[in-house]
Amino acid sequence: MKSAFTIRLATIGLALVLTACANMAPPPAAPPPPPVAVAPAAPPSLYQRLGGQPAIVAVVDDFVGRVAADRRINRYFRRANIARLKQGLVDQLCQATGGPCVYQGPPMRVVHHRMHVTNAAFNALVGDLVATLNKFNVPQPEQQELLGILGPLKKDIVNV
Ligand code: HEM
Repeated sequence: MKSAFTIRLATIGLALVLTACANMAPPPAAPPPPPVAVAPAAPPSLYQRLGGQPAIVAVVDDFVGRVAADRRINRYFRRANIARLKQGLVDQLCQATGGPCVYQGPPMRVVHHRMHVTNAAFNALVGDLVATLNKFNVPQPEQQELLGILGPLKKDIVNV
């Protein structure tokens, strides 16, 4: 009799424990890991958007060819060292557009000193560059960005 009572008591106890366990709230979910800070990708440089070094070399080749054929300004280049001019232009454009080159030639004011470069000559040369950029289908925003970089050099180049 006593043991039956004990078993019953134990059963009730067990049932109470199980009920209590069933009613227990589940353990809180682990908090999500903190977001990993990812630096936003840098927008591509003008150098990259133009097509990098091969594109700049091709642009300079075509551009210098146009200048040599342009009777408005080709007399300025009669005694020029064309290989050095091309290399200087490639390095300068590459560096100015965010590429990995370093222009090592003399400053623009020194290079064009005593050349008597007029405003009209400067504009003619820029026109030749634009014709080259159009030939290579360089989009307008990139053309404007490039001309915006070259524009401020005018004060060091035009000296008449
Ligand atoms: C944005 C416009 C221009 C830029 C960026 C520019 C840039 C340069 C560069 C990088 C050189 C080579 C320098 C060196 O390494 O020795 C150069 C040389 C030269 N530039 Fe310009 N230039 C510009 C406009 C002009 C204009 C308008 C003229 C004349 C119409 C001109 C005439 C010359 C000549 C004749 C040389 C050759 C100098 C030599 O070999 O002795 N440039 N220019």
